[in-house]
Amino acid sequence: MGDRGGAGGSRRRRTGSRPSSQGGGGPAAAEEEVRDVGPGGRAGAAPAPAPDKDKNGDSDVGSGHWDLRCHRLQDSLFSSDSGFSNYRGILNWCVVMLANVFAVAAFQVEKRLAVGALTEQAGLLLHVVNTILCFPAAVALLLESITPVGSVLALMAYTILFLKLFSYRDVNLWCRERRAKAKAKAAPAGKKANGGAAQRAVSYPDNLTYRDLYYFLCAPTLCYELNFPRSPRIRKRFLLRRLLEMLFLTQLQVGLIQQWMVPTIQNSMKPFKDMDYSRIIERLLKLAVPNHLIWLIFFYWFFHSCMNAVAELMQFGDREFYRDWWNSESVTYFWQNWNIPVHKWCLRHFYKPMLRRGSSKWVARTGVFFASAFFHEYLVSIPLHMFRLWAFTGMMAQIPLAWIVSRFFQGNYGNAAVWLTLIIGQPVAVLMYVHDYYVLNYEAPVAGA
Ligand SMILES: CC(C)(COP(=O)(O)OP(=O)(O)OC[C@H]1O[C@@H](n2cnc3c(N)ncnc32)[C@H](O)[C@@H]1OP(=O)(O)O)[C@@H](O)C(=O)NCCC(=O)NCCS
Repeated sequence: MGDRGGAGGSRRRRTGSRPSSQGGGGPAAAEEEVRDVGPGGRAGAAPAPAPDKDKNGDSDVGSGHWDLRCHRLQDSLFSSDSGFSNYRGILNWCVVMLANVFAVAAFQVEKRLAVGALTEQAGLLLHVVNTILCFPAAVALLLESITPVGSVLALMAYTILFLKLFSYRDVNLWCRERRAKAKAKAAPAGKKANGGAAQRAVSYPDNLTYRDLYYFLCAPTLCYELNFPRSPRIRKRFLLRRLLEMLFLTQLQVGLIQQWMVPTIQNSMKPFKDMDYSRIIERLLKLAVPNHLIWLIFFYWFFHSCMNAVAELMQFGDREFYRDWWNSESVTYFWQNWNIPVHKWCLRHFYKPMLRRGSSKWVARTGVFFASAFFHEYLVSIPLHMFRLWAFTGMMAQIPLAWIVSRFFQGNYGNAAVWLTLIIGQPVAVLMYVHDYYVLNYEAPVAGA
């Protein structure tokens, strides 16, 4: 998750002194605090005559290949006197482990709901309290040592977990409602329902096991189901091809970003600063090429290579991770087909429930895009520590854009219009964020130079 404080931490450990920034009062104070302890003596006893020491306090043994002294007077890292403060690895551990804590908490709530030990309202309240989106956001905002890339990865992991647990809760709730209805009906009907799912299918509440929960958490889907379709075996050659693609395309993406996209973005900063509109448009079009290429590679890498590799390993049968979005003749078709896991989640847990509650299609669609816009903004603004709403606006703009494209362009023209919005729209958003980030973080030093 990036490294900003590693070197400083290890340097402090070597010196064993409290750094002045920790409020220790500088090297003199540190020397005073860590006093030599003679053999069997207490701190404060007269120190033994010290041999020549280098600046790290080591004896002068550097030239020989034998180290006569391998111990040094120093505090343990957890002691406050050590002055050690680099706990970034522990933070990463927290990010990993706490994801489990949220999952286990949701599981325990569902277990209690299944046996009636909790009311539905109490269960809902506990699920809401288990608000996993606030925790990583707070960490990313408050912690200085976390890098934007590390932050994005952590927030993505938690967003995925949030969507999965939301689905887990919904499906278990639907199962309880069905069970209640089946109980209320005559006995034969209940028997028939069980009989229909007789074979080896899991039925509620037998699905409430850690094995089932963790299978779902690792599976390449956001929508929970009691009985996922499973593939019969792991195809080794298929898996190997996907893994090789993952490896190669990762390198390719990093290379293209570093060698093509970053220099193009850097070249765009001056025209932006000078508000030179013709140059801005030229730079925007220049950025559109690598940006689009990288996006296409990313699509294949993520939705085909990575998801199929995970699915193959887990024998997860449903491989519909994308549909033919490249044939989209409308913006609506694009959003229905490019990211199937998210689209399925939106339909099942947001759009259709809203329609069932009596919302109009327009309101429900706006609601989905609003939620999607929120998550896009969440994943960009928090890591960059700036709230500009470009991502939010970009997602919300999809609604009028969909209307305009469907109203004025059909067939191949519609398809070309969708491609154009993808090619131009994304670099606009990228440049907006990069420009603002640059102004916030780097403008002063550059102006000074
Ligand atoms: C908003 C969104 C969910 C709308 O989807 P859509 O497919 O255009 O919606 P439709 O109105 O065509 O209806 C879809 C489904 O709802 C069902 N439906 C329609 N009216 C219904 C009603 N009154 N009650 C219940 N279901 C209804 C339809 O039968 C259809 O079901 P099916 O999918 O099983 O065939 C979709 O555009 C979307 O996912 N947008 C956000 C995507 C996104 O943000 N992705 C982020 C990727 S990074």
